[in-house]
Amino acid sequence: MVSTERPAFAEDRATHSYYDRRAHEYDEWYLGEGLFAGRDRPGWHEELDRLCAALAALEPATTLDVACGTAFLSRHLAGRVLGVDRSPSMVEIARERIDAAAVADALALPVAGASVQRVFTAHFYGHLPPDERARFLAEVGRAGGELVVVDSARGPKVPAETWQDRVLNDGSRHRVFKRYLSAAQLAAEIGGPVVFDGSWFVAARAPLPRRP
Ligand SMILES: C[S@@+](CC[C@H](N)C(=O)[O-])C[C@H]1O[C@@H](n2cnc3c(N)ncnc32)[C@H](O)[C@@H]1O
Repeated sequence: MVSTERPAFAEDRATHSYYDRRAHEYDEWYLGEGLFAGRDRPGWHEELDRLCAALAALEPATTLDVACGTAFLSRHLAGRVLGVDRSPSMVEIARERIDAAAVADALALPVAGASVQRVFTAHFYGHLPPDERARFLAEVGRAGGELVVVDSARGPKVPAETWQDRVLNDGSRHRVFKRYLSAAQLAAEIGGPVVFDGSWFVAARAPLPRRP
């Protein structure tokens, strides 16, 4: 969809409300249930299993999962995993899956410098327009350690960026800004190697320059 609207995600109130309403049905996207049951996604489940295995194989580390959602992916990471998300409903679910979770803004993280060894983020970075992306990278830079980003792969005929119309189980409609990335593009953007290069998911990791 072509839109002249200024893209926003992390700072967009309508987007926050959408994810909070979606929290209890969010995992249906991963599991291919509910409104996602009819989606034609060849190889999705096998690739998701491989992605989870790749994440589980990363070195154990104290990790902050930023925009953790339900912690569907980060629960597979080895080591102590803490999560933050803007949505109280997401955080409530994440608390059952990882060591701790709290409501917080990804662009103003409640962490002291160098307090975690890894910042992990999934399906968040790829939603951010350039201004929010720059702020996010600067903010996680305060946390130190390394950054691991998981996002949606850009398949054939998939636009690089778009405003998507999303429908929830209650029939409500929402608009969300989203980019799709190749593994190489993601790796180049964050400045490190590819961790996972699939048809549906990509991941890369990069050292975080320690910023005060
Ligand atoms: C697409 S979901 C990804 C959830 C999870 N990381 C995953 O991969 O399954 C995007 C998440 O970003 C969160 N979010 C949006 N803006 C945020 C912000 N400014 N700070 C923290 N979380 C935010 C939403 O509440 C939502 O849980």
